[in-house]
Amino acid sequence: MARFSELRAPCLLLLVFLLYSSLRLQLSQGLKQRRVYIVYLGERQHEDVSLVTSLHHDLLTSVLGSKEAALESIVHSYRYGFSGFSAMLTESQARKIQTLPGVVSVKENTMVRMHTTRSWDFLGLSMGVDIKQEQQPNELLAAANHGDGMIIGVIDSGVWPESQSFADDGYGPPPSKWKGTCQAGANFSAHDCNRKLIGARWYAGPDIDRRFLQAGGNVVHNTSFFGLAAGTARGGAPRARIAVYKACWGTCSTASVLKGIDHAIHDGVDVLSLSLGSTDEMAALGTLGAVTRGIPVIMAAGNDGPTEQTVQNSSPWLLTVAATTVDRSFLTVITLGNNRQFVAQSMYVADKGGDEFSQLLYYFNDRCDPDYINSTDIHGKVVFCYTPGPGSVSAPPKYADIAATVRRNGGKGFIFSQNNLDSLDLYAIKGPALPCVPLDFKTSYQIAVYCNRIGIPKIKISTTRTTSGSEVVAPRIAAFSSRGPSPIYHGVLKPDIAAPGVYILAAAAQTGAYKSLGVSYVFDSGTSMACPHISGIVALLKSVHPDWSPAALKSALMTTAHTMDSHGVPIEANGNRAKIADPFDYGAGSVNPTKAADPGLIYDISASDYLEFFNCPQGFGSNNNCTPPDLNLPSIAIPGLKTSVTVVRTVTNVGQPNAVYKAFLEPPPGVKMAVEPAVLVFSNAKRVQSFKVIFRATRRIQGSYTFGSLAWHDGGAHLVRIPIAVRVVIEELYSDAS
Ligand SMILES: *[C@@H]1O[C@H](CO)[C@@H](O)[C@H](O)[C@H]1NC(C)=O
Ligand SMILES: *[C@@H]1O[C@H](CO)[C@@H](O)[C@H](O)[C@H]1NC(C)=O
Ligand SMILES: *[C@@H]1O[C@H](CO)[C@@H](O)[C@H](O)[C@H]1NC(C)=O
Repeated sequence: MARFSELRAPCLLLLVFLLYSSLRLQLSQGLKQRRVYIVYLGERQHEDVSLVTSLHHDLLTSVLGSKEAALESIVHSYRYGFSGFSAMLTESQARKIQTLPGVVSVKENTMVRMHTTRSWDFLGLSMGVDIKQEQQPNELLAAANHGDGMIIGVIDSGVWPESQSFADDGYGPPPSKWKGTCQAGANFSAHDCNRKLIGARWYAGPDIDRRFLQAGGNVVHNTSFFGLAAGTARGGAPRARIAVYKACWGTCSTASVLKGIDHAIHDGVDVLSLSLGSTDEMAALGTLGAVTRGIPVIMAAGNDGPTEQTVQNSSPWLLTVAATTVDRSFLTVITLGNNRQFVAQSMYVADKGGDEFSQLLYYFNDRCDPDYINSTDIHGKVVFCYTPGPGSVSAPPKYADIAATVRRNGGKGFIFSQNNLDSLDLYAIKGPALPCVPLDFKTSYQIAVYCNRIGIPKIKISTTRTTSGSEVVAPRIAAFSSRGPSPIYHGVLKPDIAAPGVYILAAAAQTGAYKSLGVSYVFDSGTSMACPHISGIVALLKSVHPDWSPAALKSALMTTAHTMDSHGVPIEANGNRAKIADPFDYGAGSVNPTKAADPGLIYDISASDYLEFFNCPQGFGSNNNCTPPDLNLPSIAIPGLKTSVTVVRTVTNVGQPNAVYKAFLEPPPGVKMAVEPAVLVFSNAKRVQSFKVIFRATRRIQGSYTFGSLAWHDGGAHLVRIPIAVRVVIEELYSDAS
């Protein structure tokens, strides 16, 4: 017994020792492991950017011990939008830098989601994909000479477009202000830039997962959809130039996004368009740098609707874009064997004689699976998938795979239920004609009932008919479009504006399921499809009003937006149940480019106000004891109205110098609203006027948000309207968890 324990003791000791040393090794490795950190030094202190960079080197040298180590560690130096850098550092080095004078913050780099993995998204901009078959030439487009001279910077995955997609026939040389370059990549040569695509840069530092480099770097061939998206551009700026900053490789590193923005500022872009998901405080800093230098930044609201508080990119200096449907439909009539007819949307061109009845095979829920369907005989039949219940946008049923199976096995068509009709992945098939029709739940249910009642159900799918204009109720807010209120800035109403982002015709990348299907074009949907429309419109506006600040441009778009649809009825928002849209769905409303060129009044905001707001954040749990300034936004959000609140706003007359505007109030239910003064008289000497808006709660209850508006009307063409969202509360700290 004694012997045994004598033996056992050393074993235990050895074990403890081994555990201890491995723990110590892990600890020291943890401390020594280098990661990318972003160091923010505030506004840049020198006009000479080389001085800014040498300051970064000196700062790093002081911590790392040598200039060599500093140069080896630094990833990007940011010097145009703000002063800062990213570097490979250990945790203790990062902590040390944090304590140095002049360092505002040090944060570990983050990866942000892209709103799209589809590289051709932004082509909608260059193409000016048709929003509406509009016959009369657009005044704004004409006045802005179609955006000629404007440069739109696009920061995203920027999978290099082939030059054909960016045909530059008829373009002059790039505007003289352009200082960018065309950086050759593995599969992209400097010759791929031209007079349309004037610049390209990419970022692949140690912060990029190198696995993505292979996947993401290819030229996408034959993605042009010149022949497909016929029509005129109502939204885009077809003659604007494009500069691409490829900061995303699968996902986007904040450190690289910041560098892309920094370069875009240097290069002379007029407008910045970002298709990124939720950006953190650090990325917000980059966009702020652009906006304070006069470059409006447009970002998508996100595709997480219709759940509330899902809006992303809600910094007040951004233009945050929601998505709407367009007044164009691709109507496809479905006829059942009992002659009942349903109208759905699809893109199907029937072969000669293809317009006949086929047997309908019904697959419910789990059965609606590519493997299961492959194991059944579907030759000459139409497959119907019905999966009721809320689907998930992030994990949709495998419709593309099922469609591939149907086609491979000689099926005659594929119809399926979709969570929301304007879902993200509605696609059409061209080539060997195979109808592929998404259906709403009501229609799906009725077809399911029919299938269950009839021994051999039959179906006929007719050729698609394109309808546009008054027959289609549009716009409607897309179900997937992310909703307010902003989870970060409660006092900032978001999103700002809505633009077409549903069923935008786009070419399919010739990869994966689309390639195997022979799909050559798809209906693409998403707020990232809506975002380029606004970028294009902002470029046009800026070309007509070169002296307007980003805030003025945003104000012009917001105060002139539509809240009524093409039939003069309030715009609806799609969702689990359709409802009248409110500002958390569409901000100020659906964009109205022509009106935006002549808004009458502007709510302007200076760069210094934005900086003050940023330095005193509301939502990031900062320890600062400051109250953020109430920005002069073209919207009002009051998240906690107890008894009364007074908001001050200032407007600048940009119309006729002598004008008299009267206030028109639409108080949110449960709130009394007054404006002082209620009449604004402008003259040559008085272009700028301030006014107070007083809100009083009329009920003492803990409520939810209600909505209203304030409009200034000059008796003529100018109705300057801003949206209002107010939440009456008894106690601010009241958890509404009932
Ligand atoms: C470049 O393209 C070739 C051929 O398509 C591909 O094999 C290669 O991986 C690509 N390289 C990069 C870095 O994307
Ligand atoms: C692109 O299209 C052209 C003409 O349609 C074709 O000849 C060429 O092979 C295609 N290229 C690729 C890479 O698919
Ligand atoms: C479909 O089924 C066939 C025969 O049952 C099989 O050979 C084939 O691999 C299956 N295809 C897929 C994609 O599963």
